[in-house]
Amino acid sequence: MAGLIPQQFIDDLIARTDIVDLIDSRVKLKKAGKSHVACCPFHGEKSPSFHVSQDKQFYHCFGCGASGNVISFLMEYDRLDFVDTIEELASMYSLDVPRDEKGTSQKSAQQYSIDKQKKLDYYELMDQVSQFFRQQLKTHENSKKVIEYLKNRGLSGDVARTFGIGYSPNDWQVVKDKFCQNGGRFDKERENQLLDTGVLIKNEKGRIYDRFRDRVMFPIRDRRGRVIGFGGRVLDDSTPKYLNSPETPIFHKGLELYGFYEAKQANRDLKRLLVVEGYMDVVALAQHGVSWSVASLGTSTTSEQIQLMFRNTSEIICCYDGDRAGREAAWRTLQNSLPQLQDGRQIKFMFLPDGEDPDSMIRQLGEADFVALVDKAMPLSQFMFDNLISQVEMDSEDGRSKLANLALPMVNSISDGVFQTMMKEKLARYLGMETESLERFITNESPQPANKQRKKANRGSIVRQAIGLLIQNPQLANELEGLPRLDQVKLKGTDLLQQLIDQVQQQPTMTSAQLLERWRGQNEYNALLKLTGWEHDVVSENLQSHFVDNIVQIINKHLELRLEQLAHKDRVEGLTSDERKEYAQLITNEL
Ligand code: UTP
Ligand code: MN
Repeated sequence: MAGLIPQQFIDDLIARTDIVDLIDSRVKLKKAGKSHVACCPFHGEKSPSFHVSQDKQFYHCFGCGASGNVISFLMEYDRLDFVDTIEELASMYSLDVPRDEKGTSQKSAQQYSIDKQKKLDYYELMDQVSQFFRQQLKTHENSKKVIEYLKNRGLSGDVARTFGIGYSPNDWQVVKDKFCQNGGRFDKERENQLLDTGVLIKNEKGRIYDRFRDRVMFPIRDRRGRVIGFGGRVLDDSTPKYLNSPETPIFHKGLELYGFYEAKQANRDLKRLLVVEGYMDVVALAQHGVSWSVASLGTSTTSEQIQLMFRNTSEIICCYDGDRAGREAAWRTLQNSLPQLQDGRQIKFMFLPDGEDPDSMIRQLGEADFVALVDKAMPLSQFMFDNLISQVEMDSEDGRSKLANLALPMVNSISDGVFQTMMKEKLARYLGMETESLERFITNESPQPANKQRKKANRGSIVRQAIGLLIQNPQLANELEGLPRLDQVKLKGTDLLQQLIDQVQQQPTMTSAQLLERWRGQNEYNALLKLTGWEHDVVSENLQSHFVDNIVQIINKHLELRLEQLAHKDRVEGLTSDERKEYAQLITNEL
């Protein structure tokens, strides 16, 4: 089993990595005063409220509240789990991640390591299952029939191999037997894992059997090429035509794109990506030389999928059926994509003739003519205005005002920039007004940008203040000589404050980001995260005295409460001799 990652190693990685460089390599940052800013990569916005602080090695978005250190950023932006993030950072410095077999690391790390191990098993298992299906395609008694089917659909062995296409035999428990029978012993844990990953399925009577039977199997891979799910197609006209893996711990439909890994493998630079609906479309397109298509695993494309694509290309063309369902799916995709649009990013739409899909089209047209169609795809602005205008009567005042009401919020959700300006100009032209008057309309209508609403966080309790100052300036804990520990103090948060102080005193040069990291995965993490981004108004010369003052106040408050408590007890039931001594001492202190 994988051991725990030593805290020291994690600290070193945080110390070696400059958060500004790391984020800048993914999201272009601009220097603004003491921090670096950008439009937040975690929500759509048009003016930058995402701030990165070099001092604190911390980012914070005043719009959506996303915040954290380098590790949090990589986890969120690259969608990695904790251990993968550590591995990713380590690989930037060509370091191997050490494992501490004795388990001296803290609880949260242990938890992560267990989750990670479980996930690793899921990935390994899915890989083996996928290999099993591929092998069945070659060796099963139905093999000829299945290969014939694929050939009839125009697929070569090469393409089938690239996409890892396989066959699931017509049997209720061939997968179950293959993976759970272990030398005459039934492996229940393995069965659970196969259930968790959706390879097996349980009916209402509790019977557990193979989910995919007598189907052509399309493995769905994640960005790193790991098999995380399957789509399985029948070989005839029976229904359902496709069965898909359910949501599982490693497979989340809205976050993944079928064919994305294969497209990245085939193209060093992805000039553009074509989004289609079906597995077969992606495979057939690749067969005909268009190796840059992906399928969204639902009818419309989610904003997460659009984000993922825009991290790898600057142009996305969404291809749909020309029928109503296709247009509706396209419209949902358009709505999901507006907040992701920025200058330099393009989304286009193309609609196929009724009854055709990219698979049938490319087989009829061949690569060159099909690509020519893609080249002629409709810009987003055209699709958007055509669609909106078809919903209103443009020759009436009412209709035009309705158009303004429909279009303005959409245009407003696009990032500031040339593209948004162009959309405003277009809208103004349709409405027959000057862009400037629209401009006024927009500023009146639109809500205040998030960062203008930003207010100084209120100071909160003294303990909260102390924790906030300390997490932002860990060195404050190094000058507390003469002050008592807070172990006896029973105010809300004082135990956390003492733990923070202890951590820093053990390692006096600790940074904010390193200190915060020790609480990842624990209950207090979110509160600490918020306090790391808290904008306090204590000037830096006064930090130490302010912090010490906080601690003194905390202790005084504690003593006051204790005094009241003892006075109360004295009145109702009397004090023990120890308590009486303490009471006397407290009273003298008071005076
Ligand atoms: P299509 O019916 O257009 O399938 O569904 P297709 O990919 O063109 O397949 P062929 O050409 O008939 O083999 C498009 C996508 O919708 C999902 C699948 O992801 C499919 O690829 N789908 C369709 C299902 O999940 N279940 C179904 O029963 C049908
Ligand atoms: Mn099809």
